[in-house]
Amino acid sequence: MMLSLGCLLSVGANAEPTAGQAPLSVANLVNGVCATCHGPRGISVLPKYPRLAGQNANYLMVQLMAFRSRTRGDADAVGFMWGMAAQLDDPTIEALATYYSQQKPIAGRSGDTSLMARGNEIFNNGLESEGVPACSACHGTQGQGMADFPRLAGQHEQYLLKQLGAFQNNMRDVAVMHGVAAGLKSKDMQAVAAFLQAQP
Ligand code: HEC
Ligand code: HEC
Repeated sequence: MMLSLGCLLSVGANAEPTAGQAPLSVANLVNGVCATCHGPRGISVLPKYPRLAGQNANYLMVQLMAFRSRTRGDADAVGFMWGMAAQLDDPTIEALATYYSQQKPIAGRSGDTSLMARGNEIFNNGLESEGVPACSACHGTQGQGMADFPRLAGQHEQYLLKQLGAFQNNMRDVAVMHGVAAGLKSKDMQAVAAFLQAQP
């Protein structure tokens, strides 16, 4: 089942549009719809839903457009975001992306110290034997994002693992990340994700 704005709005607080009114304001969307899953100011609590606070604005725009054009095709993208994005026009997407990029991100929970240290090592140096490049080259030394490469710092471990899996099996079809993720074993992904979740 695909969720749509309409079905969420019918249960949403005060975001119900009245007949003849202009399309939903961005504030109504953010508070009445997106916050249901992505949390207030883009700090989600449930690990299935990615944190959006402090994310790069261009990256956010590209993702919303990819959901709308149905090119980002992992299962949760299809189930949760395709219907949602279908009803967003370009100016609304731009305003949503700007809003979330301006929210202050926070670090997530710290995990096992040795696992995080291993993750830091892989993130900043790669794994030469497996052909895995240093993630920091594109995502910044603590995963804070760089140029239009997305922020990973503070992101939920579970979401990060889900995405790395989706890049490996091409459900989320992005050539550069497919190549990067190809050589990552499950325990390496877990280490990297544990490291990233705890970064501010
Ligand atoms: C019913 C829950 C739900 C609602 C409501 C929702 N989303 Fe999402 N969103 C998700 C899920 C789940 C994902 C992760 C999809 C995946 O795993 O590929 C996601 C992913 C995203 C991403 C990609 C993030 C990244 O790091 O790549 C963006 C951007 C996004 N949503 C924006 C929005 C905006 C803007 C709204 C409001 C118009 C919204 N979402 C409403 C569930 C929701
Ligand atoms: C050559 C540059 C490059 C390198 C190196 C790289 N990435 Fe990426 N990464 C990207 C790009 C570009 C995207 C955005 C893909 C898209 O537009 O969907 C991305 C996206 C991601 C995402 C999805 C973020 C989200 O919010 O959904 C994760 C997770 C990720 N990378 C993890 C890693 C890890 C872990 C490594 C190291 C093992 C790594 N990346 C190395 C370029 C890179």
